This record gives sequence, structure tokens and C-alpha cells, in this order.
Amino acid sequence: MQERLQELQTEVLQKIEQSENLKELNEVRVAYLGKKGPITEVLRGMGKLSAEERPKMGALVNEVREAISVKLEEKQKELEEAEVLEKLASETIDVTLPGRPVKAGSHHPLTKIIEEIEDLFIGMGYQVAEGPEVEKDYYNFEALNLPKGHPARDMQDSFYISEEILLRTHTSPVQARTMEKHQGKGPVKIICPGKVYRRDNDDATHSHQFMQIEGLVIDENIRMSDLKGTLEVFAKKIFGEDREIRLRPSFFPFTEPSVEMDISCKICGGKGCSVCKGTGWIEILGAGMVHPNVLEMAGFDSKKYTGFAFGMGPERIAMLKYGIDDIRHFYTNDVRFLTQFSRHEE
Ligand code: DAH
Repeated sequence: MQERLQELQTEVLQKIEQSENLKELNEVRVAYLGKKGPITEVLRGMGKLSAEERPKMGALVNEVREAISVKLEEKQKELEEAEVLEKLASETIDVTLPGRPVKAGSHHPLTKIIEEIEDLFIGMGYQVAEGPEVEKDYYNFEALNLPKGHPARDMQDSFYISEEILLRTHTSPVQARTMEKHQGKGPVKIICPGKVYRRDNDDATHSHQFMQIEGLVIDENIRMSDLKGTLEVFAKKIFGEDREIRLRPSFFPFTEPSVEMDISCKICGGKGCSVCKGTGWIEILGAGMVHPNVLEMAGFDSKKYTGFAFGMGPERIAMLKYGIDDIRHFYTNDVRFLTQFSRHEE
């Protein structure tokens, strides 16, 4: 019996040692220490022992049991720890793995060019002004020396909302509104970017909605040379120092004299090509000295104050600067077009 017990002990201890996980360990526990296990069986056999042998045997059985449970406990701890470690290892996060890139949007090329032009004029002391897109006929035309029935109104086919209200056809009404706010007192120095609307059929160079940037300076002793100097700075900063400008006489009802500004063609260097239609020059904007009628209507004394104004289309500027061949690209929003102007790539 003693031998059997010793054998059992060695066997169980070995089985415990060999258990690879908690489940196996539990199976060993049940198999050897359970009611139907071999140790219980040994205990049952004690009835057959003599009175002297019984206590000795009892002590031995207890020893064996004790040894087994100590070992079981040890192994249990070991396996539990191993399980925790394994779990930790399997759940490790690799912080060196690069993340999935989030696609950043890009600035619209028009926003970019407008901001660039704004920055340039802000640097020269201008303020940015804005006005409504749904405008009164008065500010869009009348206050700009274009009374009802004036033939020059036909230059800008308009979307009327009522007889007196329309979608503004240019940003010039912001001039009239700003001057009115100044109540006859200079200086005024503003640029006004914004959307404008005309009843044009859309094609490569026309859009029924487009952008304009208006400029206005009013003060005492403002001269045509101030206008020319300002436009020259603008042209060289936006298109490159090597660009020349020229002013051609033109007509706008709100300026007198009126001019159109051309820049020298970069593609042919002035020799003439298809972009400049053989002239060596490209038209950029309209400008002039503010008409005395416009000054007076807005409450300025035209004997004391003079001023200049200009108006340009940022689409046209961007098309020339970036080599874009169709104005509709700005409004169809094809990402392949738009992402080329991403600031992140600069
Ligand atoms: N408003 C004019 C247009 O849309 C552009 C323009 C020309 C604005 C001359 C001006 C200017 O302020 O002086 O065609």
C-alpha cells in the first residue's frame, strides 16, 4: 500500500508538471483527487489495515495529499501567469506601424488666387470690403453713373429679381456703398472680392457666375500715375517681375478717363503667339479715374477728392497664371483638377 501511494505520488506530480494549461491541470486534479480517483481508493482500502498500521498509513496519505496540493497550487499559479503573459503578447499594439493616411482637402485655386491678391493689397494699406450679391439696381448701375436706359447697361446682361433688385453684375456696387458710408470723407482704400452674375451662356471663357475683385482709392491728389504704379506692382507680384504692363484707353461709365490694362505675354515674350492672339499683350483688367458724377452721388466733393478704381476677374488671372484653358474647370470641381492646387504640395 505504501508503495502504491509512493507510485501514485510520483505519477501525479509528473502529470501536474506536464500539464500545459489550466484545463489539463484541472483534469489531473479531478482524475487523482476526485471521489473516483486512485487516492480515494487507497483510503478505502485502509479499513483492511491493522490498528497499528492505520495511523501510520493515514499520516502518509495526508503527506502525499499535501505534497500533491502544494504542487497543484504552484503549477496553477505558473500557468495562470503564463496565460496572462500570452494574452498580453497577443494583444500588443505595434505603435511603430504607420497610420492610414487621411486625405486632406486642398484650397480651391480661386480661393488661393484671391487670397494672394488680397494679401498683396492689404500689404499696401488696403482694407477688404464686401457687399450683397442680391443688389439694388441703384448701387449696381445708377450710383455708378449708369442711369436707367443707359446703353452701357447692355454691356452686362443681368438677372433681375424685381424691377429694382438684381443679382449684381459686378463688384463695383461695393464702391458706391463704401463711399456712401464714408460720408464724403477720404481716404478710402479698399478691395472687394466677390461673386457676380451675368446672363451669359457658359463656354470656355464665359460663366453665368464668376468672381471679381474691385479696387478703389479715394483721397486728395490721387492721380492716374498712382493707378499706373499700383497696377504695375500688382502685375509684377502676381505674374512675375519680368512682366511689362500697358494701359489702353477704354470706356466705363463710372470712370473718366477709363483704361484697360494689358500685361506682356509670357509665352512668346512679346513676339506674338496664339495665347496673346499675335499681339504680344494680354488683357487683364479695366480701370480708370473715378467719374466725378460717381463721387458726387456718393457724397464726395469732386473738387477736393479724386480717386482711381479697377476691376478684375480672378478666374482670368488664375487661368493665365496656372495655364488653365477653360473657366468651367473652376466650377465643375473635378478633384483631379483641384488637388493640383493643394497647399500641402507646395
Ligand atoms: N465693373 C467692370 C466690369 O465688370 C470692371 C471695372 C472696370 C471696374 C473699371 C472698375 C473700373 O472699378 O474702374 O466690367
